[in-house]
Amino acid sequence: MVALIVNNISHRLDIEPETPLLWVLRDELGLTGTKFGCGIAQCGACTVHVEGAAIRSCQTQVGDVDGAHITTIEGLSPDGKHPVQQAWLAEDVPQCGYCQSGQIMAAAAFLKDTPHPSDEDIDNSITNICRCGTYPRIRAAIHRAADMMKG
Ligand code: FES
Ligand code: FES
Repeated sequence: MVALIVNNISHRLDIEPETPLLWVLRDELGLTGTKFGCGIAQCGACTVHVEGAAIRSCQTQVGDVDGAHITTIEGLSPDGKHPVQQAWLAEDVPQCGYCQSGQIMAAAAFLKDTPHPSDEDIDNSITNICRCGTYPRIRAAIHRAADMMKG
């Protein structure tokens, strides 16, 4: 048995502890906003928060996060109005969209630790890959979200 609190809902799952967290989120809990890209912790499409920190769920065994609070893109805000989500809309960031939930989750965790980031901070910390090359808009949206969060 593995216990998880996902988007503030408690679950007890009869599942092998070696199972990747990503499979549990998508296949067991139906939270398909988190995407599978590379499966080897390189692309960041599978980024979710564990206790508020961004992690790559394709390479996280569910047994290693037993009892943890996990947040997926579905739970980032109750109404889709997290500042990062609003900034993403304002900057019209997505192209195909596939990488974007991971990008948003990475950005949201990053801004908690780095509320006033420079371009260099963003480039060094947001290592998620976007095959559509939306990086300039991602960077602009992170700056916009940081401004919004300043109040
Ligand atoms: S699918 Fe997890 S990092 Fe690419
Ligand atoms: S928007 Fe297409 S991969 Fe990023």
